[in-house]
Amino acid sequence: MSDRPVLWLPRRVSDATIARARQGYDVILNEADTPGTADEIIAMSAKVDAMMPCHSEHFSAEVVSKLDPRLKIVANHSVGVDHCDLPALAAKGIVVTNTPDVLSDATAELAMLLMLGAARHAVRGDRLMRTGAWDSWSPSFMVGKQLTGARLGIVGMGRVGRAFAEKARGFDMEVHYFNRSRLSPEQEQGATYHDSIDTLLTVADFLSLHCPATPETVNLMDAENLAKLPDGAVLVNSARGALVDEDALLGAIESGKLAAAGLDCFKTEPGGNPKFAAHENIFMLPHIGSATTKTRDAMGFRALDNLDAFFAGQTPRDLL
Ligand code: DGY
Repeated sequence: MSDRPVLWLPRRVSDATIARARQGYDVILNEADTPGTADEIIAMSAKVDAMMPCHSEHFSAEVVSKLDPRLKIVANHSVGVDHCDLPALAAKGIVVTNTPDVLSDATAELAMLLMLGAARHAVRGDRLMRTGAWDSWSPSFMVGKQLTGARLGIVGMGRVGRAFAEKARGFDMEVHYFNRSRLSPEQEQGATYHDSIDTLLTVADFLSLHCPATPETVNLMDAENLAKLPDGAVLVNSARGALVDEDALLGAIESGKLAAAGLDCFKTEPGGNPKFAAHENIFMLPHIGSATTKTRDAMGFRALDNLDAFFAGQTPRDLL
């Protein structure tokens, strides 16, 4: 065995990331690419100095309490860290990092796809074409909701929220946002700030979620908040499934309160919510916001930069 740090890759990250990781570390790769279980994480902690998990590996307080002291750093291959109990990891002296910035554009692009697909009946249109069921056309056929000139409400104006606002401006949408603090005029780019989510909800023809999942934001979009949206609004969630009360969302779709929803994240992943499948105005994708070649390489490289800094005795750039 060399004296290089041992790194566990529980998931098959990009080939470029694996190749670079092998240059600096003794890599243990889960070739099967199955989510790391609690038992695997605990067992691996006695064999490795570092791990590069994704959001599919859960570091709960219970798991963390059983980690071996050999494990020094968890360099997440994700920007979201709701799968990690950060206070428990900190109490154990384990360094934690994430991969901000590099996935903002890919995720914002996907949020645009969700918004467009939901607004313009992508699911129904695709089904009609694939099944040969497109047998008529009329001026009232598949009429959707136009983005141009509509009011877009963004909850969470961090990196992804701002990247999404920039793309939405290209569609001439009127951007409104709610954030813990108001952005500078340079970052706002003319967007209207709401210091309460309530006022944002009342104006949002389209509402897109870009905040992290925290105890405060779980079920943020519950029945009460969904009811505050204008009738016929469209909800977009490319952030985390925890933000939406899925039963309340179903109720709003079934009552017609919401015209449509575009979702890339679900309470249960993988799998999603089987009740959503009956509704063609719910456009769904399987948590692929950051899934482009460019971004997955960038995420892997960012995680490796954090590991390299840590093992060189420096402070990793994305230390949490
Ligand atoms: C993230 O980085 O948080 C994305 O959801 C993919 O894991």
